[in-house]
Amino acid sequence: MSEEKKYLTTATGTPVGDNQNSLTAGHRGPTLIQDVHLLEKLAHFNRERVPERVVHAKGGGAHGYFEVTNDVSKYTKADFLSEVGKKTPMFIRFSTVAGELGSADTVRDPRGFAVKFYTEEGNYDLVGNNTPVFFIRDAIKFPDFIHTQKRNPQTHLKDANATWDFWSLSPESLHQISILHSDRGIPATWRHMNGYGSHTFKWVNKDGEAFFIKYHFKTDQGVKNLDTDLASKLASDNPDYHIEDLFNAIEDGNLPSWTLKVQIMPAADANTYRYDPFDVTKVWSHQDYPLIEVGRMVLDRNPENYFAEVEQAAFSPGNFVPGVEASPDKMLQGRLFGYSDAHRYRIGANHEALPINRAKSPVNHYQRDGFMRFDGNGGSSVNYEPNSVDGPKETPENKTTPYGVEGFADSVPYDSEDHFSQPRALFRDVMDEDERTRLIQNFVDHMSRVDRQEILIRQIELFYTVDTELGTRIAEGLNLEVPEHIKNK
Ligand code: NDP
Ligand code: HEM
Repeated sequence: MSEEKKYLTTATGTPVGDNQNSLTAGHRGPTLIQDVHLLEKLAHFNRERVPERVVHAKGGGAHGYFEVTNDVSKYTKADFLSEVGKKTPMFIRFSTVAGELGSADTVRDPRGFAVKFYTEEGNYDLVGNNTPVFFIRDAIKFPDFIHTQKRNPQTHLKDANATWDFWSLSPESLHQISILHSDRGIPATWRHMNGYGSHTFKWVNKDGEAFFIKYHFKTDQGVKNLDTDLASKLASDNPDYHIEDLFNAIEDGNLPSWTLKVQIMPAADANTYRYDPFDVTKVWSHQDYPLIEVGRMVLDRNPENYFAEVEQAAFSPGNFVPGVEASPDKMLQGRLFGYSDAHRYRIGANHEALPINRAKSPVNHYQRDGFMRFDGNGGSSVNYEPNSVDGPKETPENKTTPYGVEGFADSVPYDSEDHFSQPRALFRDVMDEDERTRLIQNFVDHMSRVDRQEILIRQIELFYTVDTELGTRIAEGLNLEVPEHIKNK
């Protein structure tokens, strides 16, 4: 058989004689079970899907690189940030949160902004969103919150009552829902939105000194958002609008880029800052901690195969490299478990060995076997530790830095119940009058789907506490009779 000319084979490499007509007994059939090529084809087709991500199911991705443009080595020993000009290959996946794999791109929803840096010291995943804060601040509330964003268990419809019931009973959501219902709730494209690490992370320098940091990827294309009517039209005309935009931009050589900046808080400030720095519903004021440039991320290559590279991509907030560590943020701590567990379920125990997830630096460990072990599985090398045959050894200089803790083990709420001052600053100081009007209209549009009055009243009370004008105008838009004690708050 000629090597040059590609010929069709079965999955085991046997040349296929006929790929158009199944093997039948006689001219009219029935079909013979002997046609193993047909059986294999039908059986493999039945197994083409892996479970979609339980959240962030719909998305698209691209390859690129990250280049350091500013020396931050006094704050972190991370090798990939060690010198100006250093380039690191990366892969990014953008997504919506609540919709299924085939849902529309241009809906009002946070957008995922998940970056995998293939550093020389292993993979570093920064699994963020296009908003700097989140709806809740303790991982224990996440499954309940997501249930309210998904479908009603009986009707299988999106359920505004559930959404606003949960939000009105979880006032820590006020900041995020204000950003979500602002113009930024529907980005024009993925290229035109910022990305944020959202949580606080820890950087550690060569001397063991720790800093708390927040990441901000600022789009070099400028922030642009979609008009809500156009977004609705696109959701039906072209539900894959954002995937298409990114793919075509890169294909046309119109390469999108982001400037990565960080806010840096000396570790000691964490005890005295006016907001709990580990509360993911809060930002750090830029006046308090100004943005410091780190580098530039450029997307320059489309995936060759969507399933292999985008669907099988597995990002985990627990994938750190030396010099970058977790903070005690209670949401982040839950996420350190949640993602790799999801990957083991979704794509298997050996997901880290898939080409898109595999580190480009050496990987040496004592894990072996498991479903679909498709690399050499460590060959004949030693598979236990300690050993006396020179197997890979730990490197004590890469231990995580000690972090002092005190108090009782207990289930406790956060200290601060101030859910209002930051959304107030957004509404009053950041938005102009036109943006405020659109924000109010977006709230009214969504809340008008709620038919349980007590939910609306509870939420309006929260809006009044943020700002009287905000509460009054939303109530007017909903034709809602507001009790006097709320108006006089
Ligand atoms: P600043 O005036 O320094 O920052 C305001 C920020 O708001 C800018 O980063 C701007 O982003 C961003 N912004 C503008 N419009 C919107 C919108 N519709 N939704 C979300 N963000 C928007 O003030 P402070 O740092 O004191 O923060 C004031 C308020 O700004 C905060 O309470 C928070 O609501 C919001 N904010 C703050 C951020 C922070 O990290 N401090 C980050 C994002 C929002 P850009 O420069 O890209 O236009
Ligand atoms: C995806 C859990 C909060 C951003 C996921 C997935 C899970 C999950 C299970 C699917 C992973 C997969 O199948 O590959 C959680 C839990 C949270 C939480 C338990 C809170 C405790 C957050 C927050 C952010 C975020 C705060 C952003 C700051 C993302 C992104 C993805 C994702 C971007 C998609 C990653 C990709 O593109 O593959 N989350 N999440 N999540 N989450 Fe979260």
